[in-house]
Amino acid sequence: MAKIALFGATGTIGARVLREALGRGHQVTAVVRDPAKLADSGAEVVRGDVLDPHSVAEVAGGRDVVVSAVGPGSGDPGVLVTAAKSLIGGVCTLGPDEPRPRVIVVGGAGSLRTPGGQLVWDAAGVPEPVRALMHAHGEALDFLRTVPVEEVRWSCLSPAAQIAPGERRGTYRLALDDLVVDEDGGGSHISAEDYAVALVDEIERDAHAGKRFTVGY
Ligand SMILES: NC(=O)c1ccc[n+]([C@@H]2O[C@H](COP(=O)([O-])OP(=O)(O)OC[C@H]3O[C@@H](n4cnc5c(N)ncnc54)[C@H](OP(=O)(O)O)[C@@H]3O)[C@@H](O)[C@H]2O)c1
Repeated sequence: MAKIALFGATGTIGARVLREALGRGHQVTAVVRDPAKLADSGAEVVRGDVLDPHSVAEVAGGRDVVVSAVGPGSGDPGVLVTAAKSLIGGVCTLGPDEPRPRVIVVGGAGSLRTPGGQLVWDAAGVPEPVRALMHAHGEALDFLRTVPVEEVRWSCLSPAAQIAPGERRGTYRLALDDLVVDEDGGGSHISAEDYAVALVDEIERDAHAGKRFTVGY
């Protein structure tokens, strides 16, 4: 059983990570800006802000893993970079006798390589606001890649090109920096439920420290 602090538990992806982790018997603390939104979740709920390293440090102590599933909504995508820096900065402020938790960040698909060799964010037809969000995820990943795993065992899990609520199959395929394309060649998909399965598997297996990896069918 892992002790997990989860930012973004009220979101589309975070809610599924919360449900998957609780369903497997992990001890999850949901760290949210408005605890009233998660009144009946079955998780311990505390107030916090991922953009504040002190807030991160408060929940990082005594936890095995800090997960961030935060997103900017319709706001400034740059908060993703601030959030990555705050997560790492926050866990690094723990005292010398406190073990640092691992950090797992929900990433974006834009910086993945397609079978044709281009990056997803360079594909024709990507709307400009989506491209900006993708680049913000890319900048956050660039920052994480500067963090030695000896300092913080971080991982970043990028979804397939298309992620949406759907069926929990319990099966998926993983790759590192290459987009996972559906086996029938018909695109790149993952349900938010199976994304959550892969993320909680990573919590349990600790298989991608210091790496970005991605999940699709
Ligand atoms: N869904 C997709 O299609 C998709 C695709 C690729 C990548 N992603 C990435 O996956 C991540 C999650 O996506 P989503 O669709 O689940 O997002 P979402 O439904 O918009 O949820 C965003 C979550 O972030 C939380 N949040 C925002 N700012 C915060 C802060 N300062 N402190 C703590 N929590 C904060 C929100 O909490 P509040 O309830 O307080 O607002 C909410 O729980 C995003 O980074 C997104 O870019 C999503």
